Amino acid sequence: MSFNLNGQSHDIPPDWADEPLLFLLREHFALTGAKFGCGVGICGACTIIIDGLPARACITRAGDVDGLSVRTIEGLAERDALHPVQQAWLDFGVPQCGYCQAGQIMAAVALLVQVPDLSDDDIDVAMDGNLCRCGTYPRIRAAIMSAAERV
Ligand code: FES
Ligand code: FES
Repeated sequence: MSFNLNGQSHDIPPDWADEPLLFLLREHFALTGAKFGCGVGICGACTIIIDGLPARACITRAGDVDGLSVRTIEGLAERDALHPVQQAWLDFGVPQCGYCQAGQIMAAVALLVQVPDLSDDDIDVAMDGNLCRCGTYPRIRAAIMSAAERV
């Protein structure tokens, strides 16, 4: 089994196949951007992108990404150039504690690919499953709207 992780092909070790993809990413590949929050697919802290669509790494079996393409927040920037969503996050000072933010950013990146011409409602619907205990929602929305003009 193998998959493409942030642009590079990697094997999925057989003993990891039945583990959550989140654990494979964090513990085997040391990609700790995606966070463990609820562990049951409802908070969005572990959001990554699989074949262009947002996905919950905590409820995705590692073996199920065999042959697929996985992008994590570590794979967004190109050398020193931040992804437009990351830059917008900085410009708007979005994070507070930061715990949810990698998941928020990955959900936003996927949203901008799927729906380039966004309304506030599009953002609210798409980001509804990404929870933020710090209540950064207004800044998240503003940053997504700004990023939409840069991608
Ligand atoms: S940790 Fe995956 S959705 Fe909460
Ligand atoms: S910034 Fe703290 S949970 Fe979202």
